Amino acid sequence: MTIRHFIDLWQLPSHELRAILDQAHAMKRARTGWPKGKVDADAPLEGHTLAMIFEKSSTRTRFSFDMAMRQLGGSSITATSSDMQLGRGETIEDTAKVLSRYVDAVMIRANDHGDVESFAEAASVPVINGLTDRSHPCQIMADLMTLEEHGLTLEGARLAWVGDGNNVCSSMIHAAPKFGFSLAIGTPDRYAPDDEDVILAREEQGRIDLFDTAEEAVVGADVVIADTFVSMGDKDADERLAELDPYAVTEELMELADGQAKFLHCLPAHRGEEVDAEVIDGPQSLVWDEAENRLHAQKAILRWCLSK
Ligand code: CP
Ligand code: NVA
Repeated sequence: MTIRHFIDLWQLPSHELRAILDQAHAMKRARTGWPKGKVDADAPLEGHTLAMIFEKSSTRTRFSFDMAMRQLGGSSITATSSDMQLGRGETIEDTAKVLSRYVDAVMIRANDHGDVESFAEAASVPVINGLTDRSHPCQIMADLMTLEEHGLTLEGARLAWVGDGNNVCSSMIHAAPKFGFSLAIGTPDRYAPDDEDVILAREEQGRIDLFDTAEEAVVGADVVIADTFVSMGDKDADERLAELDPYAVTEELMELADGQAKFLHCLPAHRGEEVDAEVIDGPQSLVWDEAENRLHAQKAILRWCLSK
């Protein structure tokens, strides 16, 4: 039987991704007003345990996956790679084989995307990508859920990404053809998204438009999206901050987008760098719902991974 890994959005058919989002909305609605630690009425993952391995820092991913497993009726075990023999040179493959004997699924946040792929190849349980240098698919499922919750129809919607064409941007590119929205990306040439991602999306008839400025990318956008200018693992912080400064999301930039445009940011945010406080803390910002929806979207991802 094929193991249901959740590594990258481009690998999954759109009907499966649509079903995951539908389930996320339904599960969120079903527990409106409940205490956060109460188990869902159907406890769908009762008896199941998720292992979480972190090679990099995390607030949202760590807490939302842990709470997701609790609400689904299961449990989780968290370790940083430096706590594990992985940090002393045990191989990814051996670690994957051993953990597969203990737990029902593994979530990994890794420095190197290839390590998540190698882990999944060696594992005999589902593996979920909790962010790598190349992508962050769980984040994008939460982002899309948030936009739908706020009344946006994804098919035909116009999303704009400005700043660094990074890992989160790559997953948004992967999602564009799956959900039928267009994505305009404004970055300096040096920080443009990976060609490979753009080619993949365009092969599936995804509409991806690349621009040199933030201003061109946001014109007419329904949604403006930003992320940090310096991602975990980036070594050239000073150069990035200087070169990306003109791509900051300001109130003026938001005015160039549709008057009602929503603002998304995966967090953590750096006010005064990639976004002004007036925008991220203002009425067009959806960032707190976006952060909450990591929990609901991941519950649906976990159910999908563990469904027979
Ligand atoms: N957005 C996100 O993945 O946040 P953390 O790094 O806190 O997990
Ligand atoms: N692009 C950021 C996202 C953090 C959630 C990083 O990789 O650090």
